[in-house]
Amino acid sequence: MQDAGYVKKAFAGIARRYMLANHVLSLGIDVLWRRKTSRHVAESQPKLILDLATGSGDLARELQRRCPEAKVLGADFSIPMMREAQSHHFQQLVAADGMNLPFQNEAFDVLSVAFGLRNMASWPGALQEMSRVLKPQGRLFVLDFSLPTIPVIRPMYLFYLKNVMPKIAGFITGEQAAYEYLCSSVERFPSGQAMEQLILDSGFKTVKSYRLSLGIASLYIGSK
Ligand SMILES: C[S@@+](CC[C@H](N)C(=O)[O-])C[C@H]1O[C@@H](n2cnc3c(N)ncnc32)[C@H](O)[C@@H]1O
Repeated sequence: MQDAGYVKKAFAGIARRYMLANHVLSLGIDVLWRRKTSRHVAESQPKLILDLATGSGDLARELQRRCPEAKVLGADFSIPMMREAQSHHFQQLVAADGMNLPFQNEAFDVLSVAFGLRNMASWPGALQEMSRVLKPQGRLFVLDFSLPTIPVIRPMYLFYLKNVMPKIAGFITGEQAAYEYLCSSVERFPSGQAMEQLILDSGFKTVKSYRLSLGIASLYIGSK
């Protein structure tokens, strides 16, 4: 659970270089994670999709490409991040806080949130709000970082996350502290069964999860 003021300030600081930093730090693998998420989203042929914490719109654009018939709306509480989305040709945007969404109950077929839930002030509160705006058969897609479970890989990855990644990101964005925050937020964020339980406790009947790239990221799919 995070301080909203700090999170807004951090993203305003890195907005211009956010996409470049992402692709460099993940060696482009983040693109594959969003593609996989979009493939799963497309399975149910949704008509109305909310991509929450859309930021620079990377997932929203991929969703629109994969679901050309759907209306995809991006929402975020950072105006500088949404300007990046606009400058990368994604325009269907709404300024909104995930903790208190300006949408009526049961409005969307799908709600996706990539690398966003981790930054919200209350994870259960945000998930309940996501459930509220989803239709009765609606589906939730949470894509976020997790930690590898393989014993040898985990300490190596943590070393990279704590010691290497913030320095490279600091060089690219000029905001090393924001990436030190990212590391600590990943360590605190629930994953695997703990995240599945959180989703089930927030108004979803079933949940499936996929570990991606040795568990560096995870995709959770909840159904109401
Ligand atoms: C790491 S970026 C993710 C952007 C994009 N989804 C992606 O896949 O790259 C996280 C985004 O979450 C947004 N965010 C964090 N807390 C939020 C909240 N409570 N409401 C709306 N957006 C939020 C930030 O402004 C930021 O743009």
